[in-house]
Amino acid sequence: GKYLDGAITRGLKSHREHDSTIKRRESLIRHLQKIFSTRFKGCDLQAFGSSQTGLNLRNGDVDLCLIIDSKDSRKLLKRMRGILNDQGMEDIITIPRARIPIVKFRDPRSGFEVDIAINNSLAVHNTKLLKSYSECDPRIKELILTVKYWALQRAICDAYEGTFSSYAWTLMAIAHMQIIEPNLAPNLQLSEQREEVKIGKIVYDITVSNQITPGDSKCTTGELLAGFFDRFARGWDWQNDVISIANGGSISRKEKGWKFANPGAIEVMEAADEGEELPMGYHHLSIEDPFDKEHDLCRVVRPEGELTIRDELLRAARMVAEGKPFAKICEVVRPERFKNEQPEDLFHDLRTLKEHEIQSKLDNITSEIDTLTTRMDALEN
Ligand code: UTP
Ligand code: MG
Repeated sequence: GKYLDGAITRGLKSHREHDSTIKRRESLIRHLQKIFSTRFKGCDLQAFGSSQTGLNLRNGDVDLCLIIDSKDSRKLLKRMRGILNDQGMEDIITIPRARIPIVKFRDPRSGFEVDIAINNSLAVHNTKLLKSYSECDPRIKELILTVKYWALQRAICDAYEGTFSSYAWTLMAIAHMQIIEPNLAPNLQLSEQREEVKIGKIVYDITVSNQITPGDSKCTTGELLAGFFDRFARGWDWQNDVISIANGGSISRKEKGWKFANPGAIEVMEAADEGEELPMGYHHLSIEDPFDKEHDLCRVVRPEGELTIRDELLRAARMVAEGKPFAKICEVVRPERFKNEQPEDLFHDLRTLKEHEIQSKLDNITSEIDTLTTRMDALEN
């Protein structure tokens, strides 16, 4: 896997966020905080996810969590929709019946996709855990970002489409490192002193140790990536093992009590071909949440998604074994998915234009400014 190192470094560099993007996101978050705090008394809008862990690629969404005392999430989401609509947000979708009620939208000015989850405070805590892992060693951050990038390019990183979330891929990457290089990625949830929070009626152990210093390890990110593909393509017993970073990488299904339930993905798809609708069995590609131990992240995975994930892992493992270049391994599937991607910088939309087109754009904007200046003068007078 060493041969991948150079390409990984270059790839991550070119996908790193621009400073202007970070600023834009921060100002969007501040704006939303102001809007919501004036509309809902005593609420708190907190950021979590990749914008806070530093584990973000250029096209990550903005994950926010509204902490609010409200019983009726349907009503709440409806009000939020109204507020966001007044703010000019686009493509607003509310999902009131999910495990965590959520509203999704796009801010047309900054181009960001935003998710606001209701009272998902556990996510704020697991974000801290991921941040601690990413700060342990640069290779941990690099592997996670590379795995996320690959999964995104290959269209297997979207919980709403029935594949794994970015979060699930992140946990898989950490689990792999814990197993193969425990010196590099020690279990950060082992600590004498435990910390607990009560959310709703449930008490969660949210201990994150900051005192652990990683030991010696010589492996490179390319080797870690090659090992990652190989482990989950060929060396993982999905029928008997559960991915668990709380337990040093894996835990047996027996100990966990999660049975691989039928029908499997293939049976569900075969039945669908016959016009029959079967609900998919639980716990196929099991990943235990590090704090919410009852939550299996593969719950969202649909039959096609499961088969695609397994195919893609095999494909990547085979390509690495054949020494194929990183760019080929990460070749983009369905590029039209990225049409809404945020501009890289201020000049993004200008580079493909001819000079006279730019000139006419400039003329338009200049005349708009003139009108505005006249209007401002009038108002001031
Ligand atoms: P994402 O899947 O968006 O991960 O979940 P991300 O790291 O932000 O990825 P990109 O950059 O947007 O693609 C965001 C956060 O949501 C919480 C975790 O805190 C995660 O960091 N989360 C997500 C859960 O707690 N449980 C889940 O099942 C999914
Ligand atoms: Mg995110």
